[in-house]
Amino acid sequence: MAWTCCRNILIAVAWSIFTSLGIQTTFALDQERPNVLFIVIDDLRPSLGCYGGPIISPNIDQLAAQSAVFTNAMVQQSLCAPSRTSFLTGRRPDTTKLYDFYSYWREAAGNYTTLPQHFKENGYFTASVGKVFHPGNSSGGNDDYPYSWSVPAYHPSTDQFIYAKVCPNLDGKLGDNVMCPVDVDKMPEGTLPDLQAFERAAEILRNLSSAKATGAEKTHLHERFEDGKSSLTNASSPPFFLAVGYRKPHVPWKYPKEYESLYPLSSVEIASNPTMPEEMPSAAWEVFGRLRKHSDLRPLKLPLPYGTIPLNYHGPMRQNYYAASTFMDHQVGRLLNVLEESGFANNTIIVLVGDHGWQLGEHGEWCKFSNFELATRAPLLVHVPGVTDTRWMAADKFELLDPLLLTKKDAVEKKQMNIKLQRYLHKNAIREVEILDEQERYEFIKDYSDLEQNNGIHVDDFVEFVDIFPTLSDLANISIPPICPPKSFNVDFCAEGVSFAPLITNKMTSTRGDISGGNSNRVTNFTRWKNATFSQYPRPSIVPTGESSDVPHLANITIMGYSMRTRDYHYTEWIGFNHTTFEGNWSDVGARELYINALDPDQNQNVAGYIKYGTLVKDLSQRLQRGWRDCLPN
Ligand SMILES: *[C@@H]1O[C@H](CO)[C@@H](O)[C@H](O)[C@H]1NC(C)=O
Ligand SMILES: *[C@@H]1O[C@H](CO)[C@@H](O)[C@H](O)[C@H]1NC(C)=O
Ligand SMILES: *[C@@H]1O[C@H](CO)[C@@H](O)[C@H](O)[C@H]1NC(C)=O
Ligand SMILES: *[C@@H]1O[C@H](CO)[C@@H](O)[C@H](O)[C@H]1NC(C)=O
Ligand SMILES: *[C@@H]1O[C@H](CO)[C@@H](O)[C@H](O)[C@H]1NC(C)=O
Ligand SMILES: *[C@@H]1O[C@H](CO)[C@@H](O)[C@H](O)[C@H]1NC(C)=O
Ligand SMILES: *[C@@H]1O[C@H](CO)[C@@H](O)[C@H](O)[C@H]1NC(C)=O
Ligand SMILES: *[C@@H]1O[C@H](CO)[C@@H](O)[C@H](O)[C@H]1NC(C)=O
Ligand SMILES: *[C@@H]1O[C@H](CO)[C@@H](O)[C@H](O)[C@H]1NC(C)=O
Ligand SMILES: *[C@@H]1O[C@H](CO)[C@@H](O)[C@H](O)[C@H]1NC(C)=O
Ligand SMILES: *[C@@H]1O[C@H](CO)[C@@H](O)[C@H](O)[C@H]1NC(C)=O
Repeated sequence: MAWTCCRNILIAVAWSIFTSLGIQTTFALDQERPNVLFIVIDDLRPSLGCYGGPIISPNIDQLAAQSAVFTNAMVQQSLCAPSRTSFLTGRRPDTTKLYDFYSYWREAAGNYTTLPQHFKENGYFTASVGKVFHPGNSSGGNDDYPYSWSVPAYHPSTDQFIYAKVCPNLDGKLGDNVMCPVDVDKMPEGTLPDLQAFERAAEILRNLSSAKATGAEKTHLHERFEDGKSSLTNASSPPFFLAVGYRKPHVPWKYPKEYESLYPLSSVEIASNPTMPEEMPSAAWEVFGRLRKHSDLRPLKLPLPYGTIPLNYHGPMRQNYYAASTFMDHQVGRLLNVLEESGFANNTIIVLVGDHGWQLGEHGEWCKFSNFELATRAPLLVHVPGVTDTRWMAADKFELLDPLLLTKKDAVEKKQMNIKLQRYLHKNAIREVEILDEQERYEFIKDYSDLEQNNGIHVDDFVEFVDIFPTLSDLANISIPPICPPKSFNVDFCAEGVSFAPLITNKMTSTRGDISGGNSNRVTNFTRWKNATFSQYPRPSIVPTGESSDVPHLANITIMGYSMRTRDYHYTEWIGFNHTTFEGNWSDVGARELYINALDPDQNQNVAGYIKYGTLVKDLSQRLQRGWRDCLPN
C-alpha cells in the first residue's frame, strides 16, 4: 500500500532536515494564483491516524504526510453553528453574537466579511457543497449566499432523512438509532449525504478543469454565476475556493455497514477515565440530551442530568464513531483523487478541519457542548504545494486508498506506527533533541524524520480557528484582515486572530523561539508565538437540567464559561452573563476549573479550589480576563 511505502525510502538524515523547511520561503504558487479546497468535517475529533489515534484514515493520513498537522488547534466554541460562524468570519462568539443556532451575524452583530467572501471579492470562484456554514437561520437561510458564494450552496437531497427511522434493530424493526450501519441500497434515494456531497464537489472540480482547458466563457459553470459579478468574464478561468462539508462522524452514525468490520469490537479500547472529574463543578457537565433520545439508547432510561451510558455500550459506540469516520475518510480520498486528476493538485492549498472535538466516554461524557479539551481541540491540516510536501516522494500526491481493501498486515503496521507517533506528540521534540548526546540525537532525528516523512510536519504551537481566515489570505497572497479593534461591530473587514503562515513556511525556527517568515514580501518578526488559546461555552443555569443546558437559546443564557488553555494549564471561569448586552460579569464567578497539563493531561481532577493553587488561580484569572489580545504573537 502506498501509505506505508515511504517507510522504505532512505532519506538523508542530518540536522539539515530541520532547517530545510525554514529556508523555504518562496512559494511554488507564484506563477498562478492558488486555488483553495476547504474541507470541513462535522464532529471529528483528532483521533485520526495522523494524530496517533485509532481511526483508520489512510487518505487523510496521506494528505497529512504532505501537510502541516496542528496538534494544538482550538475552536472558539464546541458547537457546530457558533464554531463555523466564528472561523468563517474570523471572529469570536462574543463578536458574532451567536452561541446557538438562531441568529444571523449580518443582522444580529455586524456585516462581517467572511473568509469565502474575501476570496470571492478577490476574483475567486467560490462554491459551497454540503455542510460548510451551519445551514438555516445562523447563515441567513441560504448559507450566506450571495455574499460568500458565487453560486448557491449545494445541499444533498438526502439531508432530510437525517433522523429517519432506517436503522435495523435486533427485533427487526427500524429505528433512529445512533449506531446505524446500513445497506446503502436500502436507504431513501439509494444514497447518503456524504456520497452526494462528494459527487457534487467532483462535478464542480471536473467542470472547473474543463473550463480551464477550453476557456471559461463556453462552459455551463459560467451561466451559473447568478449574481452577475463573476470574474469568469476574464478570458482565463479564475482560481477557485471550493468548500466541502462532510456530515460524518456527526450522530447518528449512519454509514455503509462494510466499514464496521474494520473495527472488531475486541480491538476497540474504551476510555480509561469513564467517570466525572473530581471536584468538577456542575456547570461543566453537559447532559448529551439529544443523544439519549435515539432508539437504541432510549430504553436505557438514563436519569437526567448525571445518568451515564453503561460501560458495555462504550465499545460499540466508539466502533461506530470510528467506522463512520473511516467512511468519511474514504470520501475525502475520492475528493483529493479527483482534485489530482483534474490537474489542480499542484496549485491548490488544502485545509481540512473538524468543527470541534467530541467526547467518547471520557469523563462519562458524550458529544461536545463543553470547555473540556476533548471538545475544544480539533483536527487542523494545512497543505501548501511546494512548501509542506517537499519530502513527499510518491509519484501520486493523492492516490485513492480504499480503507476496505486494507490487508490485516497493513493495518497492524499502521497501528504500530501510530503508537510510535503518539509518543512523539504532546512534547516538544526539538527541545528534547537539544539535551541528547550526539549518538542519541542522531537516532532521534532519524526516527523523528521517518515519522514526519510518513505523517507530515507536526506543529505544536498554539493556533485558534479564528486564525484560519487571516492565514489563508496570507498563503494566497490576498489582503490579510487586520486585527479587529475592541468593538468591531461596525468594522466589516478584520479578524480576531492572526496568520499562522509563519508556522507553516518556517516552522522549524519557530520552536526555537525565533519566528519569522510567512509571505516573503511581508515578513513579520516575532520573539514569541501565541501563548494561550481561548474558548467559551454558554449555560442556562449553574446546575444542568435537560437538553436546553447543552444548547441553550440566547434568551436563556445566564452563564458563560470562559476557558483559556496555556502550555501548562487549562483554566475556566463560569461567570454571570447578560444575554442582552452580551457581557460577562467577572465579579460574579459561579465556578472555576483548573487542570494541570503536566500532571493531569486527561483533565480528571479539577484543582481550582486547592489552597496551594490560590495564587496561581488569581494570576490565571487575571490573564483570562485580559483575554486573547494579550496572548498574540509579538
Ligand atoms: C503578492 O501580491 C503582490 C501584489 O498584490 C505581488 O506584487 C507579489 O509579487 C505577490 N507575491 C507573491 C509571493 O506571489
Ligand atoms: C428563523 O428565521 C425565520 C425567517 O426569518 C423566522 O421566521 C424564524 O422564526 C426563525 N427561527 C428561529 C428559531 O429564530
Ligand atoms: C454588507 O456587505 C455587503 C458586501 O460588502 C454589501 O453588499 C451590503 O450592502 C452590506 N450590507 C449592509 C446592510 O451594509
Ligand atoms: C457541470 O457541467 C455540466 C455540463 O456543462 C452541467 O450540466 C452541470 O450542471 C455542471 N455542474 C455544475 C455543478 O456546475
Ligand atoms: C480579471 O482578472 C484580473 C486579475 O486576476 C482582476 O483584477 C479583474 O478584476 C478580473 N476582471 C473581472 C471582470 O472580474
Ligand atoms: C506536479 O508536480 C510534480 C513535481 O514537480 C510533477 O512531477 C507533476 O507532473 C505535476 N503534476 C501536474 C498535474 O502538474
Ligand atoms: C526580521 O528579522 C530579519 C533578521 O533578523 C531582518 O533582516 C528583517 O529586517 C526583520 N524584518 C522586519 C519586518 O522587522
Ligand atoms: C428557556 O428555558 C425554559 C426552561 O428550560 C424552556 O422551557 C424554554 O423553552 C427555553 N426557551 C428557549 C427559547 O429555548
Ligand atoms: C442586562 O442588561 C440590561 C441592559 O443594561 C439590563 O436592563 C438587564 O437588567 C440586565 N439583565 C440582567 C439579568 O442583569
Ligand atoms: C456583577 O456581579 C456582582 C456580584 O454578583 C453584582 O454585585 C453586580 O451587580 C453585577 N454587575 C452587573 C453589571 O450585573
Ligand atoms: C502571554 O505573554 C504575554 C507577554 O509576555 C503576557 O503578558 C501574558 O500574560 C501571557 N499570557 C498567558 C496566558 O500566559
